[in-house]
Amino acid sequence: MRITEASFLTSSANPKDCPAPNKPEYAFIGRSNVGKSSLLNMLCNRRKLAKISGTPGKTRLINHFLINNSWYMVDLPGYGYAKLSKSEREKFKKMIEGYLTERTNLSNLFVLVDSRHAPIQADLDFMQNMGVKGVPFAVVFTKTDKLKPAQLEENTAKYKERLLEDWEELPPIFLTSSTTRQGQDELLSYIEKINKN
Ligand code: GTP
Ligand code: MG
Repeated sequence: MRITEASFLTSSANPKDCPAPNKPEYAFIGRSNVGKSSLLNMLCNRRKLAKISGTPGKTRLINHFLINNSWYMVDLPGYGYAKLSKSEREKFKKMIEGYLTERTNLSNLFVLVDSRHAPIQADLDFMQNMGVKGVPFAVVFTKTDKLKPAQLEENTAKYKERLLEDWEELPPIFLTSSTTRQGQDELLSYIEKINKN
């Protein structure tokens, strides 16, 4: 699949304010600064569709984009952003959890993790929680351009090993870079396949 049309629709603070759930939806989540907004732009071949920043905490609302007039892509705020106040972090957490549990048209969630880092407990806990809630997800390694191939191989192998301590089988896994566009075809084919089912 190629994305030929992508437009920003709405920013919502409350899951109830999101667009009517009448199209399949794919959301991108992960820690602040992991590269969610960059990945969304990369998939759409657009540089400034979703706002990007070197400072964590850029995306603060649930952002809906309409793709090819047939499905929604959703850019979510990062979780685990340390610089937020406790009450702000609680507010974000409630917003994201509300979205994830209430959104009936959510076809798949992409959980982004930085390919440079060892598994982070907060990410693993988050995936566990998705399992409990029955939200289908895939794991997306980001920023692969920042690693040498051997290092990338080692990091992802370790990550898979860690996942297999929690899960009987691995979720779908993608390697991506918003800089080299690695993973674009694979992710879009995956979305296309789910859309057809
Ligand atoms: P929040 O909205 O703050 O949660 O962040 P985010 O997850 O949306 O991250 P964002 O896309 O804003 O990117 C954060 C920083 O990482 C920016 O400086 C990006 O340019 C950089 N970045 C994102 N993806 C990549 C990538 O694949 N490769 C490289 N080298 N840098 C990247
Ligand atoms: Mg963002």
